Amino acid sequence: MRLTTVILAAGQGTRMKSTLPKVLHPLAGKPMVHYAVAAATEVTDTLPVLVIGHGGDQVRAAMGDRARYAVQEPQLGTGHAVRQARDLLSGQADAVLVTYADMPLLTARSLARLINTHAASGAALTLLTVVAQDPRGFGRIVRGADGRVVAIVEEADCTPEQLAIRELNTGVYCFDAEWLWANLPTLPLSRKGEYYLTDTVALAVAQGRLVNDLCAVDESELLGINTRVHLAEAERVLRARINRHWMEAGVTLMDPATTYIDADVTIGQDTTVLPNTYLLGRTEIGAHCRIGPGTIIEDCRIGAGCTVTLSVLEQAVMEDESNIGPFGHLRKGARICRGAHMGNFGEMKNSTLGPGSKMGHFSYLGDAQVGPNVNIGAGTITCNFDGERKHPTVIEEDVFIGSDSMLVAPLHIGRGAKTGAGSVVTHDVPAGAVVYGVPARPRRAAVDADSEDAKE
Ligand code: UD1
Ligand code: MG
Repeated sequence: MRLTTVILAAGQGTRMKSTLPKVLHPLAGKPMVHYAVAAATEVTDTLPVLVIGHGGDQVRAAMGDRARYAVQEPQLGTGHAVRQARDLLSGQADAVLVTYADMPLLTARSLARLINTHAASGAALTLLTVVAQDPRGFGRIVRGADGRVVAIVEEADCTPEQLAIRELNTGVYCFDAEWLWANLPTLPLSRKGEYYLTDTVALAVAQGRLVNDLCAVDESELLGINTRVHLAEAERVLRARINRHWMEAGVTLMDPATTYIDADVTIGQDTTVLPNTYLLGRTEIGAHCRIGPGTIIEDCRIGAGCTVTLSVLEQAVMEDESNIGPFGHLRKGARICRGAHMGNFGEMKNSTLGPGSKMGHFSYLGDAQVGPNVNIGAGTITCNFDGERKHPTVIEEDVFIGSDSMLVAPLHIGRGAKTGAGSVVTHDVPAGAVVYGVPARPRRAAVDADSEDAKE
């Protein structure tokens, strides 16, 4: 059976009350539509067709070449939306799986079960239903005396008896392709002035065609998102799934309820994540790390055996066995090399702290390259910005920067050099030299100058 997927994502999502298209609202760090596309991609060999309309350009930009696109303009309902995919698909598939982009928790496994149920049945369509206590405004599944599905009735059109039905339409269907394309144009106009895909059920029944159904087991998968309350519910379910995955993979989460891990994050074995920690974006964390508590890490690469305590890291790299915190801030382009340490109230931006180097207390490195085994004394600042431009600082290996040194860039400090406490360094320091004072001068020169003074 040749199968393709059509994912509906053209609706405005009025109930979200947002300028952002509903399907782009983020869940676990990714736009909602990503999840429907990923699940569909797992169960079919062809690229899913995404029906876009409201905010279509933004949706296309977000999903790129992970889907094909059909445009629905204007948006006249879910039945009308599927019709827009016809030109792309007719003659190319025996079966069409239709899902909605606002059902992000649906797993590929459930889709696969539906496809299997449909495959050998000869049904015009097979639909996925769920029995749930909260009807969520979903369409109700109406069954006939023989127990077969005879219609889906949208909540607004329900009789009081139908409103009491707790079997709901999930919005996932597998259609016989030929039947679908032939019958979509005959859908009636609803009271709301839309063409409902759900009316295909009554249509098939009226023709005496088989309508098959599969009642989904896990209610949490079928959380359709129509409001921000639903969005928060889905976020909670998705995060619980992600946390469970990492715990099963050998990661300790001391308090999963306050641990927020985005969908694309990876974590190595025997790492421990402490409470109130956010691992976001494309962050990679190695094995045997201790991360948190109270930490935010976004788009970072952290090696093995690292410790990060009460800190904020963005687009930064920490090599193996390095550590930062408490209260550290690594900004874009910061790199802590192997075995290096950044302590209390340190900040780094576009800078490297070399292997084994230490920056223990209250220091800022901006646009600085620090070599191996350097000691950056408490309160050191690279003065990298002159009000107009940023300038680089290079500190070579084995340098000792005294506490409270102001390093005025551009600046080069040679291997093994030292700066005295409180010095303001405005000129390059040669290898092995010792400078001190404001502005800093070499110690030997200073001694000479003192003796000149004495002669006078
Ligand atoms: C729909 C179903 C309902 C089901 C529920 C499950 C219909 C008529 N109703 O209701 O039976 O219980 O989903 O979540 O299908 N869309 C378009 N073009 C349109 C309209 C909608 O692409 O013209 C897309 C939306 O972007 C969304 C999906 O279709 O991804 C569903 O639309 P929505 O308005 O959320 O339908 P529901 O009222 O939730
Ligand atoms: Mg919906």
